[in-house]
Parts: sequence; structure tokens; C-alpha cells
Amino acid sequence: MTTLVLKGVRPYGEGDPVDVLVRDGVIAAIGTVDGADAEIVDGAGAILLPGFVDLHTHLREPGREDTETIATGSAAAALGGYTAVFAMANTDPVADNAVVVGHVARRGREVGLVDVHPVGAVTVGLKGERLAELGTMARTGVRVFSDDGHCVHDPLIMRRALEYSKALGVVIAQHAEEPRLTVGAQAHEGEHAARLGLAGWPAAAEESIVARDCLLALHAGAKLHVCHVSTAGTADVLAWAKARGTTVSAEVTPHHLLLTDERLDSYDPVNKVNPPLRTAADVEKLRLALADGTIDCVATDHAPHAVQDKDCEWSAARPGMLGLQTALSIVVETMVATGLLDWRGVARVLSERPAAIAGLADQGRPIAVGEPANLALVDPDARWTVRGAELASIAANTPFEGMELPARVVATVLRGKVTARDGQVAG
Ligand code: DOR
Ligand code: ZN
Repeated sequence: MTTLVLKGVRPYGEGDPVDVLVRDGVIAAIGTVDGADAEIVDGAGAILLPGFVDLHTHLREPGREDTETIATGSAAAALGGYTAVFAMANTDPVADNAVVVGHVARRGREVGLVDVHPVGAVTVGLKGERLAELGTMARTGVRVFSDDGHCVHDPLIMRRALEYSKALGVVIAQHAEEPRLTVGAQAHEGEHAARLGLAGWPAAAEESIVARDCLLALHAGAKLHVCHVSTAGTADVLAWAKARGTTVSAEVTPHHLLLTDERLDSYDPVNKVNPPLRTAADVEKLRLALADGTIDCVATDHAPHAVQDKDCEWSAARPGMLGLQTALSIVVETMVATGLLDWRGVARVLSERPAAIAGLADQGRPIAVGEPANLALVDPDARWTVRGAELASIAANTPFEGMELPARVVATVLRGKVTARDGQVAG
């Protein structure tokens, strides 16, 4: 099918419903369109947005295909409105060489539900000791490098990585966690962790690395991206660094926009994540920083884990939460329903900014004639109840289990092809 008509949709939720004609993967007309011979998606007044771009997804292939594969993660992405995802490098083996990143990219293309961009590791084996072959991986098309799960904590290695990244035209995405300050850490250092006797993960462990890296990025004239900002203090550091002209960008996860460390009282490891859930004051500040652009975008940190790695004692549980199929709804709940963002703003934080940060030319584009048809169609009035077992991921570790959330993705279009529709993956 080379022709598709999205009937009666409202781009960015603005104006009267229009029809969008897509031909050969490109938006060919917007207005009133005769859909004869075309595949029709009846929008019924739903909101049309550019397809979402996730800078931070764990797909677990190779190595932990019992929790997620590139196929199941791609399905979750398409169902969540995503047309591009960046697959983090902490697989087994680590994506620190051209062979592994090549496998991830190829498998993503075979599945074909979402553009899967492999993230390359910054250091060999994520060990923080020796730079990986960034140049070799960059030549295969890798644009984002990260040791996510681990911090590139050695300042000299981080400095060199930033210098190389500048020469290669790529981005270093840092998991900001000073490891000497988080030895044994299990939860946000605060009253809830103290009451439960859990070793604390202090806000300063994140903020001190972000401040250091902003200084290094400015010195190197390189681009820095900060993963999963979790504290109010980090937002202040980013505002300071941006005001000084640092080319730094940052993401916040849906869970850090909604959940707080009060969740610790349940002692349910589904709430264990790195960086940890913080305080209500942090959540409030993160929302404001996302609204005013201090934090550029939302990234899921979608982190599938096996039952035995989550349904166990807190200290033995792995950190991480599913995110791809709930991200839009959490953004609507925390940012749209609160009046902090309109739908243009949603397009900015879920699509335009992440695409620009990673340098994707064909994603996060305006909804206009001649533009690539990478699109997400959203029913803003839908409400649905999250059931982990019903999500497309193999794992089911959602912290939003049983919650009723607003807004639902009704269709996703990748280069003119419907990849998900009414909760079903195409094909
Ligand atoms: O919670 C997390 N889970 N944080 C990370 O940095 C890594 C991720 C994972 O790979 O499970
Ligand atoms: Zn991380």
C-alpha cells in the first residue's frame, strides 16, 4: 500500500479536522482528500503529532532475550507512538564494537516497526577504563554513545570522549552518577530510605557529575546529553550551563515526572530504578524545567526485567521500569492536564527535540506537505488502565500497574506505513 489517508485528524490538536494524504512515505496533501483506493485511518478528530523519538531504550538483545527482544521492544515502541528509538549499549555482549551495533541495526531493520538506532558504548565493556572505538562505530552510522547503566566517571576519559565526539559529530549521553557517592545505594537518600534502612543515593552524586561534564563539554566545545535527570539541583545546574553557552541537552523520564520516593514505603522493587525516584519537590521542579526547555525532552529509559529479577528482595532487585507504551499517557497526565504543555509542546518534548539532539534528519519534522510521514495519532479523551501483562514487552515490570491514565495512541505511521493501530501491531 503506497497511499494512506488519515481522515479527520487535528495536527498538533489545532484547528478543524483535516485529511492527511500520504504517498510513498511522504505527506502529499493536507485538506480535504478523496481517499479512493487508499488505506484509510479514520481519525475521528484525534490529534496528529510527529512520531515520537526515544533517546533511551533498553532492548536487551543480544543477551537477555528472555526479557525483551528487538522485535518485542519494537512492537512496544510502535504501540507507544514511537517511530525511532535509541537502543542502549548495555547488552551482553556490550555494544562497544561495530559487530554488535551492526547486529542491532540490522535486526531493527528486519523487524521494521520502528527505526532502531544502536547506541555505542563510550568505554570498552562499559568499564570506564578505555575508550571504545568510537570512530569505527560512528562510521557505521552510530550517532549517540553512552555507557548508560554506568557513569563515565573518570574525568580524563570523559574529556577525551567529548573531544572525539566533537571531531566525529556525535553525542555523548552521560548516566550521571558519581560512583564513590553511591556505593551500595538502593534508593534516594532521604527520609523514606532512612526509615527502611536502605543505603542512600544522594542528589549530589548526579548534580556533581552534571556540573563537571558541562564544564568539560564547554571546554571541549562538544555536545553533551544528560540522561534521566532526576533532581531539582540538576535542573539548576543545566540552566546555569545553558546560560553560559554550553551545548548541553537533557532528558527526563516519565516515571521521574510522576512518581516519588514515597513509593518506597510499599517495599515493592517494581519501584526500584536508577537514578531513584526522588521527592515531590524534585518532581515539581522537573516538570517546570521540561516546560521551560531547561530539560529538552522526555526519554523512557524503558528497562525490561525478568520476574525473578524484580519479584525479590529490594536489595537484590535490578533497577528499571517499562516505559514505551505508557510514556505519552504519563506526559499528558503530568504536563498537559496540569497546563504546563500544550500539544505543540508534547510534539517538542517527545519528537522534535530528541530528533534534533541525535541529528535525525527524517524524524521530528513538521506535519507539512513534502515532509516524511513519521506520525503518531493520539486520542486525547481515551482513558485506559495499565496492565503489565497486556503490554507488548516480554517483561511486565511497569510501576503504573492498575493506574487509569489519559490519552492513547490510536495509530503510528513509519514512512507512510501503519506500524500500529487500535492497540495492535501491524503486519
Ligand atoms: O534503572 C535503570 N535501569 N537505570 C539504568 O541506568 C540502567 C537500566 C537497565 O539497564 O536496566
Ligand atoms: Zn541510566
